[in-house]
Amino acid sequence: MEITPELRRAVADAGQEHVLRFFDQLDESGQRRLLDQLSALDFKELETLIAEYVLRRPRIEIPPDLGPAPYFPLHPADSVQGVYYQRARARGEELLRAGAVSCLTVAGGQGTRLGFDGPKGTYPIGPVTDRSLFAYFAGGIRRAGEKYGAPITWYIMTSLLNRAATEEFFRQHDFFGLDPHRVFFFTQGTMPAIGYDGRLLLAAPDSLSLSPDGHGGTLLALRKSGALDRMFDEGVSILSYFQVDNPLVPVVDPLFIGLHDLERSEMSAIMLAKTGPFEKLGNFCVSEGRVQIIEYSDLPPELAEKRNPDGSLAFIAGSPAIHLLSRDFIAHLTAGGSLKLPWHRADKKIPYINDRGEKVTPAEPNGVKLESFIFDALPLAGRVMVLEGDRKSVFAPTKNATGVDSAESCRTMLVERNARWLEAAGVEVPRTADGQADVKIEIAPEAVLDSDDARAYAAGHAVTLPRGGEVVLD
Ligand code: UD1
Repeated sequence: MEITPELRRAVADAGQEHVLRFFDQLDESGQRRLLDQLSALDFKELETLIAEYVLRRPRIEIPPDLGPAPYFPLHPADSVQGVYYQRARARGEELLRAGAVSCLTVAGGQGTRLGFDGPKGTYPIGPVTDRSLFAYFAGGIRRAGEKYGAPITWYIMTSLLNRAATEEFFRQHDFFGLDPHRVFFFTQGTMPAIGYDGRLLLAAPDSLSLSPDGHGGTLLALRKSGALDRMFDEGVSILSYFQVDNPLVPVVDPLFIGLHDLERSEMSAIMLAKTGPFEKLGNFCVSEGRVQIIEYSDLPPELAEKRNPDGSLAFIAGSPAIHLLSRDFIAHLTAGGSLKLPWHRADKKIPYINDRGEKVTPAEPNGVKLESFIFDALPLAGRVMVLEGDRKSVFAPTKNATGVDSAESCRTMLVERNARWLEAAGVEVPRTADGQADVKIEIAPEAVLDSDDARAYAAGHAVTLPRGGEVVLD
C-alpha cells in the first residue's frame, strides 16, 4: 500500500516519522490498519496538544473566586420548597409517561482498577446470583418503561476496544428482556498515547497505542452516531446519564427530572455529601456564576480541607456522576460537528514497541494519556441544577477489587437498600447486633424499581427472610 504524500508530510512535519519505521515490513492488512489510524489524526492539533500537555505539565487554573456550588437539599428546607418538590416529582412522572426521557450509560472505560478482564458492565455484581452490572440497568429500564407506560431507549457508549464483547454479552442474554431496537450502542473516540519525549507510542509495528478518549467524547459521539437524531425522532428531550460502575443508581428519578425541567436546566447533576475532604469524587464548585466540577485529583488540598465556621467541609458536594442532559443543549454544543472540551493529562505506564521493534513494559510511568470529561460541559450550560442525593440509595460504585468502592462494598449496599425497602413495606428483616442485614437479599430490578414497587411486591408475595440465608426476589 502507498502512503499518500499529504499524510507522509503531515507525519514528518509533526516530527512523528518513527511511526512509519516498520511500515514496509508489514503485510497489507497491517499497513491498512496503521494508515487508517494515522489518517484519523489531526497532526497539527496533536502538535499543539503535545506542546501544551505532554512536554510541559499543564497547570490547573483554580479561579480566585472559586466557591462551593449551590444545590437543592435532599429534604426540602421548608414547606414552600416541599410543595415545589411535589410539583417537580409530578412533572418528572409526566415526562416519563410522555416518553420524553432516554437513558445513557458510559461503558467505555477500561476498568483496570477492578482487575477484571472484559467490559466492566459484564461484571457479576448480584449479592446472591451472578447478575451483571448491565443486567441491573437493563432491569431498571425495563421496569421503568412498564411503570410509566412508555418504553425507554437506552444509549450505551462503549470504546472501540470493548464494543464487540459488549454487544455479544447482550445477545447472549437476549438483551435482558428489552426490545433490542431500544438498545443503541455507539463507540467513543480514541486518543494516541504519547511518550514523555513527545513521540507517539506504538503498541505494535502496525498499531499506535490507542486508548479511549474519556467520556467527554460522549456528546459528539451522540451526534455522529445518529443517537441525537433518534432522540429528535422519538420526541425525547432529556437524557438520564450514569456510569457503568454504579448498579444502585435509579435509572430515572422523577424528582430529579422534574426539577431539571422546572428549573429550565440544560445540564443537571446529583451531588452527595463527601465522606471526607479527599474522597475520590469530583467537587461541585462555582466561579463567576458558572457551576463546574473540579476532579478530586485537581482540587488543591487547602481547598479540599477548607472548613465552614461550623466545622463542616466548605467543598462538601461530591459528584457520583449522575447527570441529566437536555437534548437541545447537546445539539447546540455539537452544532458545528465539533466540540472542544479541555483535556486532562494522566501519567501512565504504557507498554510500547521501541525503535528496534522490541516490546517494552515500563516499570515507571513513561508517557501520557489524554482524556476529556463530560462534566466539563457544565460551565457551557446556560442553566445548571444540582440536587442532593441520598448516598445509601443512589451510589454504590464498583471500582476496586477490595476495600473502599469495591464489588464487596457495592454488594453490601445493594443488600442494605433492599432491606430498607422491604422493612418499609412491613417485611421483617433479621439484623446483626451492629444493625447490618443478616440475610443476603437480591431483588430483580425488572420486578422492583423503587420503594413503591417493593411495597406492592410485599403485598402480593409471602416474603420470608431467614437469618443467615440468601433470598432472590424476582
Ligand atoms: C469518576 C469521575 C468522578 C466521580 C466518580 C464517581 C471521571 C473523570 N471522574 O471517577 O468525578 O466523582 O467517577 O464514581 O469520570 N468511561 C468511558 N470512557 C472513557 C473513560 C471512562 O466510558 O474513556 C466511563 C467508565 O466506563 C465509567 C466512567 O466513565 O463508567 C468513570 O470512569 P472512571 O475512570 O472509572 O472514573 P473515576 O476515576 O472512577
